[in-house]
Amino acid sequence: MSHLSEITSKRRTFAIISHPDAGKTTLTEKLLLFGGAINQAGAVKARGDSRRARSDWMKVEQERGISVASSVMTFDYGGCTFNLLDTPGHEDFSEDTYRVLTAVDSAVMVIDCAKGIETQTKKLFEVCRLRDIPIMTFINKMDRDGQDAFKLMAEIEQTLALDATPAVWPIGQGRDFRGCFDLMKDRLILMARGDKSTLPAHETHIRGIADPQLDALLPAEQVAQLRAEVELVRGACPPFVRSSYLDGHMTPVFFGSAIHNFGIRELLDALVALAPSPRPQTAAERAVRPDEDKVSGFVFKIQANMDPKHRDRIAFVRLCSGHFKRGMKLLHARSGKMQMLHNPILFLGQDRAVAEEAFAGDIVGLPNHGGYRIGDGFSEGESLTFRGIPSFAPELLQKVRATDPLKAKHLGRALEQIAEESGASIFKPVVGSDWIVGVIGGLQFEVLADRIRTEFDVPVAFEPTSYLTARWIAGSDADVRRFCDANRGCLATDHDGEPVYLARNAWHLGKVQEDYPALSFLAVKN
Ligand code: G4P
Repeated sequence: MSHLSEITSKRRTFAIISHPDAGKTTLTEKLLLFGGAINQAGAVKARGDSRRARSDWMKVEQERGISVASSVMTFDYGGCTFNLLDTPGHEDFSEDTYRVLTAVDSAVMVIDCAKGIETQTKKLFEVCRLRDIPIMTFINKMDRDGQDAFKLMAEIEQTLALDATPAVWPIGQGRDFRGCFDLMKDRLILMARGDKSTLPAHETHIRGIADPQLDALLPAEQVAQLRAEVELVRGACPPFVRSSYLDGHMTPVFFGSAIHNFGIRELLDALVALAPSPRPQTAAERAVRPDEDKVSGFVFKIQANMDPKHRDRIAFVRLCSGHFKRGMKLLHARSGKMQMLHNPILFLGQDRAVAEEAFAGDIVGLPNHGGYRIGDGFSEGESLTFRGIPSFAPELLQKVRATDPLKAKHLGRALEQIAEESGASIFKPVVGSDWIVGVIGGLQFEVLADRIRTEFDVPVAFEPTSYLTARWIAGSDADVRRFCDANRGCLATDHDGEPVYLARNAWHLGKVQEDYPALSFLAVKN
């Protein structure tokens, strides 16, 4: 094995997907705790609070109890380096989440044992399925009363059409929850109900379900039930097949209680042993292997600085190959320029440190003043266009205007920056002077209004438009031009200057498709 492939085989880049409140923040915090990146639980939340306090526009998320911005956390465990990419929890930000999921190699799905699969879990799961992302399932809050474990397994299989096989089996639930029997390693793991903010002492380990020590450790009823259930599970559930997991067809299921630090170690051990290391990434030109010598990567997310006084932004780059070093010169494919990367950032636990070096699977933050966009590729000279970072047609469109007419000209600049961060789609109609903003969920308008006011000092109002949806127009140059000339009243350009058809309703959209069969009206721009 080459030096590079040895290093990348020990990288795990993943995201947690869940419905709000299932315990993603708590689990994240406990993963960091077990990974030694923080000393005490409570730190992630505290950080969230202080971060929010610093940033005005974040008030929206604070009031709504949602997490709009995502970040990256890096920690070590079991000889592996983990990069955990946070995904926004609220459904309005699904596009942002989609992009984060283009940068991970696997995901952990957190489910509340009382609620089962919820709407947002399902949506995020579908995104993972589109990309064949392997998923481990963590059924959380077992210290609370919830649904029966067999029922939860069946629900995963039926609702998600995914083979589910338990990696551990719970002993009791709610107040009677004692721990789990580890089906993969054939041992007992008991829960220590102690201080929730620090690491638990080592769990009691017992070999095999028949071990008579079990009878001494647990009440007779629970032992009998456990033995019967384990027998049933082993007979009824499909055995774990790693290739099936890696293909995204099967999920190993863990039961635990994040708040009590229980089940975290098993999940981490499984991520070390079973989760994929960085996968080859598909560029339009060719597939890029993680152990190639030359550095390459793509921008999957752009985040405005948390401090509204500073206009700089961070582009999050997922490295796809090579050995990245600080001060390196890389080709920024879209501009065609070689650029020196002076202050790349690594995300250690919750601190940011200057990145001295990084490898495939790692996320490097590049501070910039607006030169980078989502999807931009970097390389050591070769032109690489990475795929899989699409733009989606917005589901809601509104007109935006500066409430102070003197600031109108600043509005365009603010909107363009936001569009480049993919905070929203921005359309400039060919006729008239309005801007039209498109989003996936209505809450985004509020967040945008807040950001434009605080970051750019332009108070704005959003107003309804007569447009229902937007479609990118694809076809031969001549056909596109003919369409554009004949439909100027419904035409706009996106922030890349590409033509977009604004449809008043579904009938109009159907009609242009009928009238211009040679053209495609696309809801997704690749
Ligand atoms: P999220 O990021 O997915 O939205 O969930 P988060 O971790 O914030 O957890 C949501 C609530 O569930 C929190 O309670 C949290 O303490 C609780 N929780 C998380 N894991 C467990 C668990 O294993 N068992 C139990 N019983 N509760 C759990 P909260 O009251 O909303 O917040 P807090 O005041 O406890 O912070």
